[in-house]
Amino acid sequence: AQKIIIDTDPGQDDAIAIMMALASPELEILGLSTVAGNVPVSQTATNACKILELAGRPEIPVHAGCAAPLRRTPITAEHVHGRTGMDGPDLPQPALRPQAGHAVDFLIDTIRANPPGSITVVTLGPMTNLALALVKAPDIAPRIGQVVSMGGACSECGNITPNAEFNIFADPDAADIVLRRPLPLTLVPLDITHQFLVSASRLARLRALPGRCAQAAASMLGFSERFDLEKYRWDGAPLHDPCTIGWLLAPDLFAGRMVNVSVEVDSPFMQGATAVDWWRVTDRPPNALFLREVDSAALWEVVLARLGRLP
Ligand code: BDR
Ligand code: CA
Repeated sequence: AQKIIIDTDPGQDDAIAIMMALASPELEILGLSTVAGNVPVSQTATNACKILELAGRPEIPVHAGCAAPLRRTPITAEHVHGRTGMDGPDLPQPALRPQAGHAVDFLIDTIRANPPGSITVVTLGPMTNLALALVKAPDIAPRIGQVVSMGGACSECGNITPNAEFNIFADPDAADIVLRRPLPLTLVPLDITHQFLVSASRLARLRALPGRCAQAAASMLGFSERFDLEKYRWDGAPLHDPCTIGWLLAPDLFAGRMVNVSVEVDSPFMQGATAVDWWRVTDRPPNALFLREVDSAALWEVVLARLGRLP
């Protein structure tokens, strides 16, 4: 199995991505590292524990990480995700607690302890933890097998400002650091996730699955969709983070290109915007596989099949 660390800020869509990974024998989750994003970091760590407990996987370690972006004031998104960040199902306070070590050290130690190239790091929130790990321990960059990140946008504008996607906007300096490192990086941007809509009929099929995890996932989406349905007025709300795990499990459902992606860190209007050199009009070298097409119907089958395996 492919060894992965999921760095996350759950988040209803983060929770569903984590559940998909938990249900996938192709993936071995070495740990969840959490970051401030949708809600503050203490809450994202608690939420990660809730998901593991719900899925009956308390042996997977959770490490809480950075409470704030590298050099700016934290922003959160309770207006989308609710007070807990994972509103919807009535999940109990978890008995499971995060481990003692900081997420940044967990990333560094785990990457150093495993054979070079063997670890996939998936980021589902602001990239603060991974960026700090790369700064603190530059030797880990060539040891990371690949990074898969939900973040950025090309033709889809922004979802938190007119031009920026939330995860990059929340910590553009962190994204900038990651993009400047020689890492095999795949970006799963809004261009993908805005094609992956959970319509009422898709949600009904999830709701029809018997397991408690699928049930929780359905009520999470029932909650978080309300805001986006109002915002976009599409036939369903976008489901962002699960597209990363979907790509790991079924890359043939996606298409993209190796391009240069740079992040705006200074402009007040464009903070966190990703400049995607799709037509190679600069001589900046490609630094990311930027995905732009997805077979949305087939990807939903993957989500249902995986969540259907969980208790
Ligand atoms: C990203 O922002 C968060 O609210 C979601 O969990 C996702 O990671 C989408 O822009
Ligand atoms: Ca997220």
